[in-house]
Amino acid sequence: MKILLFGKNGQLGWELQRSLAPLGDLVALDRFEQQYCGDLSNPNGIAGTVRALRPDVIVNAAAYTAVDKAESESELANIINAVAPGALAEEAKRCGAWLVHYSTDYVFDGSGDKPWREDDQVDPLSVYGQTKLAGEQAIQASDCRHLIFRTSWVYAARGNNFAKTMLRLAQERQQLSVINDQIGTPTGAELLADVSAHAIRQALKTSEVAGVYHLTAGGETSWYDYAHLVFDYARRAGLELKTDKQSVAAIPTSAYQTPARRPLNSRLNTEKLQTVFGLQLPAWQLGVERMLSELYGK
Ligand SMILES: NC(=O)c1ccc[n+]([C@@H]2O[C@H](COP(=O)([O-])OP(=O)(O)OC[C@H]3O[C@@H](n4cnc5c(N)ncnc54)[C@H](OP(=O)(O)O)[C@@H]3O)[C@@H](O)[C@H]2O)c1
Repeated sequence: MKILLFGKNGQLGWELQRSLAPLGDLVALDRFEQQYCGDLSNPNGIAGTVRALRPDVIVNAAAYTAVDKAESESELANIINAVAPGALAEEAKRCGAWLVHYSTDYVFDGSGDKPWREDDQVDPLSVYGQTKLAGEQAIQASDCRHLIFRTSWVYAARGNNFAKTMLRLAQERQQLSVINDQIGTPTGAELLADVSAHAIRQALKTSEVAGVYHLTAGGETSWYDYAHLVFDYARRAGLELKTDKQSVAAIPTSAYQTPARRPLNSRLNTEKLQTVFGLQLPAWQLGVERMLSELYGK
């Protein structure tokens, strides 16, 4: 079996290189690849790559993920997040391959406090969310066999993430402000990659599992409580922080202006995924603490 992975060096792509390797022959590309085009800003180029390699499974971990920058680069974000996945889907349909793709909680408007289900009304607040939704729709319209995983608050030991930024800031500053009215679930790239591999194996046996799934770790939190978990870990590990517990202020989203609007309710209901694939999603704290131990060795 041949698997073609785009975006091999992102948080998720890196972990997919590990989790997909035992499933078959893996060809992993990033945007700078010489032999085959792996650049999603060139939809014709990546379509040519699929035609040349004729994979059984295409996994797209590449995306335009700079949420705020997307507000001023909507054209590029749309090509990478919507046009390119559409081109992959057309080629997948043509050669009978599965397409595995990732989307986001930002397709929802963040109203209410119930975890969003897969078929709930979508209404993105940002350009990033709109382009990711358009990517989903292009894949669905192509009628190729696909798995689309919507996830949230992705982190990995490799690359920049919220936990690392909080730790750096707490080592530099005495006071910190962290948003406490956005609620979601930090999800490790490791977990996403492992679940993707399980789901692909299942899909290759039972094609009825095709569709959209919500995939996050278990539980929910705010950025504020997430930051506190990171600081508690750091203190236990003996890291020196300038910020003490009382000096972390909880602030509303309205007090922290950003170019892109973000949903307040980012909770995703993962029952469908757990039922269809017979999997259990571990609590978010487990993955975050594991990443912190990898990074700081305690
Ligand atoms: N990060 C999150 O919090 C989050 C939340 C919800 C959903 N998601 C979704 O989860 C998926 C994986 O995200 P991630 O966290 O792994 O993101 P990431 O770490 O930003 O990785 C994205 C990868 O895409 C690559 N890329 C960007 N433009 C490209 C292009 N033109 N051609 C080829 N590759 C290109 C990036 O390369 P460079 O590094 O060279 O730019 C990077 O390797 C994405 O679909 C994302 O939308 C992420």
